Amino acid sequence: MVLYMADNSTPTIIKGLEGVYFTETKICKVDGAKGRLWYRGYSIESLAKNSSFEETSYLILYGALPNNDALAKFKSKLVSYMALDKQLIGLIESFNGKMLPMDILRTAVSSISAFAEKKVYQNENDEKIEQAIEIIGNICGIVATIGAISKGRKYTEPDNTLGVAENILYMLNGNKPDEKVSKMLDVMMLLHAEHSSNASTFCTIVAGSTLADIYSAITAGICALKGPLHGGADEKALDMMRAIGNPNNTEKYIEDALAGKERIMGFGHRVYKAYDPRAKVIKAYLEEIQNGSTMEVQTLTAIALRAEKMMVDKLGETKGIWPNVDFFSGPVYTYIGIPKELFTPLFAASRSPGWCAHMLEYWQDNRLIRPLDYYNGQLDIPYVPIEQRK
Ligand code: SDX
Repeated sequence: MVLYMADNSTPTIIKGLEGVYFTETKICKVDGAKGRLWYRGYSIESLAKNSSFEETSYLILYGALPNNDALAKFKSKLVSYMALDKQLIGLIESFNGKMLPMDILRTAVSSISAFAEKKVYQNENDEKIEQAIEIIGNICGIVATIGAISKGRKYTEPDNTLGVAENILYMLNGNKPDEKVSKMLDVMMLLHAEHSSNASTFCTIVAGSTLADIYSAITAGICALKGPLHGGADEKALDMMRAIGNPNNTEKYIEDALAGKERIMGFGHRVYKAYDPRAKVIKAYLEEIQNGSTMEVQTLTAIALRAEKMMVDKLGETKGIWPNVDFFSGPVYTYIGIPKELFTPLFAASRSPGWCAHMLEYWQDNRLIRPLDYYNGQLDIPYVPIEQRK
């Protein structure tokens, strides 16, 4: 389909590709008007209530829920891939303290192909799905290792009797995690596992559409996720809650920020013009942990709930600006024991199944992604030799 303007009139520019459909998918549906989300036809509410990160990752990748045997095999593979090559551990150690964890993650993932086990596959599809499982496991192991090393701990080999979320906490802290806390992390990861053509998934697909390899495509996705308008918002939202400090300062802080035309991180969404269904699930955890946790978590939770009330009253119905998946994550991750600098890397680990699934799906009917930009400058300007320039 060619859209060149025969008469050179100014074409319609869709900034940010807002509202543009670039492909079809069976992986995820987001109903922004109603605040609904489905992975492969299953509602996020039913998956959050009944499933696990491993089972949901299998669903996203393969398109169907696994039976017991398939799930056990998939889970064991993911955990085995959380074990890191010692050269990769050395690379993470060498960058510790010199780069942000998100940058260490990006660098480590782009080096995975150097350590990936060379195997012979039946066919290209088997190879790609196996590489996807390896990348998901590797990223989960890398994120936990970045966190451990940043806390002055050494690398811990994953324990194959534990699941992915449990191993992230085990590798991060060096001790077997509390069951309730690991389950909370498991659901947080499942909630972040996929979200249609968000900026980082689109970036992954753009890179892969040139037929670059999956490691390059996923690295591109990690680069895009880092920004505070996307995956980086979770860390920024917690920064704001810490800056507010006392729940009684909440309303004034938000008032002043909005008056100064600042963005309140963790609110608003390009697609959701209703409450992000994932934020509702995460908010329920806040209410669960509000009492009986540390003073810090209780304070953060009180601030988050007061900020939410004010923003929803002021900008919810009127401007369609509601809490998104990033807003309540901070207090919950803090309760789980995840350091702030690891929030976005953890988002990347959680989203890696979605990135991989979309890449594999797009490759089934690949088309190089190459949009147009409308040139509005001069043409055929005469070249002036440098000695004649002023
Ligand atoms: C994620 O796409 C996905 O699916 C992403 C994600 C996923 O799972 O992959 O859901 C994860 O990235 C969630 C979003 C995390 N980002 C943030 O929380 C950053 C803060 N939010 C925004 O910057 C903003 O809401 C965006 C970037 C998320 C979406 O912005 P849009 O669609 O580009 O909307 P816009 O910037 O054009 O804003 C429209 C209006 C503006 O006001 P006016 O100039 O019209 O008066 O809404 C205002 C904005 O100022 N606005 C906000 C606001 N977000 C939008 N005002 C205050 N605080 C905010 N957070």
